[in-house]
Amino acid sequence: MLENDFTLLEKANRYGTPMYVYDGDALKEHYEHITSWLHQTAEVFFSFKSNGNVSIASLLRSFGAGIEVASEGELFMAIKAGYSPQQIIFSGPGKQKEEIDTAVQHEIYCIIAESKEELTYIAESAKRQDKQVSVGIRINPESIESRAKIKMGGVPSPFGIDESKLNDVFDLFQKYDHSLLFKGIHMYLGTQVLDETSLLSSFEYTLNTAVRIKNEYGRTCQMVDLGGGFGIPYFQHETPLHAERLFQHVADLIRSYETELEFPRFIIEMGRFLLAECGVYLTTIQYVKESKGQPFLIADGGMHHHQAMTFRGRLLRNNYPMRLIKHSSNTADVVKQSIVGPLCTPEDLIGRQVELPQGEVGDLLCIEKSGAYGLSYSPTLFLGHSSPLELLLFEGNDYVVRDRGTPEDLLLKQNRSFFRQRRGEDETDRASTRND
Ligand SMILES: Cc1ncc(COP(=O)(O)O)c(C=O)c1O
Repeated sequence: MLENDFTLLEKANRYGTPMYVYDGDALKEHYEHITSWLHQTAEVFFSFKSNGNVSIASLLRSFGAGIEVASEGELFMAIKAGYSPQQIIFSGPGKQKEEIDTAVQHEIYCIIAESKEELTYIAESAKRQDKQVSVGIRINPESIESRAKIKMGGVPSPFGIDESKLNDVFDLFQKYDHSLLFKGIHMYLGTQVLDETSLLSSFEYTLNTAVRIKNEYGRTCQMVDLGGGFGIPYFQHETPLHAERLFQHVADLIRSYETELEFPRFIIEMGRFLLAECGVYLTTIQYVKESKGQPFLIADGGMHHHQAMTFRGRLLRNNYPMRLIKHSSNTADVVKQSIVGPLCTPEDLIGRQVELPQGEVGDLLCIEKSGAYGLSYSPTLFLGHSSPLELLLFEGNDYVVRDRGTPEDLLLKQNRSFFRQRRGEDETDRASTRND
């Protein structure tokens, strides 16, 4: 569906741009493939941070996914999306005390503790609420080779508890045994991993750690969260994972540990791999200009909606996958041109010297692979442009799952009493000056 330019043009004409379009049928098919390759050895948990739309979360729940949340806001939305407490886990290195209180109150499947201090707070919160709370421990492994683009484990890190500190962790479980129930372990080493061996060896490390915890500490994991980090190719030099083979290997690996680990619940977390290729971002070319011999296309959408597609903070300065959809049937020569968004910063660069058919005002730019870390990873308040519409296509219907924002949204939660009071004072001043 998202490959069909005619469909995208029709949606852009009907709903306007900038807009995200998600293909719910492709998502369903993708999810079903992944789970069938896993042969029910592990459950897939959707990482909410990758796409914060509650309808997408609800759609994934209807397919059978669980959910990994990383804030009270995501927890709130997960509940709204219909997830039962048993389908929710809560991770994140800086959970605030109020957030922990809320998670304890909701009796979710498990809170993942990322430090000893957090574990202590969880225990105290449970005690106060007269509950026993299920807790998983995120472990930062001693040493592991990870080929993640962004490393979040195996190195000094704010994420998780160093493996060498497991003694202290189990002392705390002992100390608070009325309040804490040890549910299991979690490891997540980083995102956008395209190396099958690296993924499998990190999962094996996690499984071995669960075995070690059983043997050395006498603690059996009821849950082993293998994390994930499955990548997708964005740029030409990147090779896609062979998903079917990989997930079958994951299933074989899990099976080889099942009996020894006494059949825990195995979890795989997934954001990017699940969603990225099921969404596109559409923006329209508003102006075409030339500067010092170079052509620039200026689009109506940009970094404030989709930071990841721009060059902001990117080490590798490659263009995101994109295509230009001509609004008229005119054919155009392919030329090198730069495409920018409307923000007053050079970082709002969508594509540098991209080879595309010569752009004209009204052409549609389709940014591919945008279903994950699009809107959820963007500085939406910067410059005060309205937020984009989000459209879900599913079973032959269109669903506007987020309305386009309006300028009034910008004032939401802004407290104007200061401003009103000052204006009143200014008017009094002006009136008194006039009377003088
Ligand atoms: C703990 C945790 N789980 C899951 C994810 C999702 O990762 P991905 O989108 O690579 O699947 C992240 C991403 O940062 C994470 O930090």
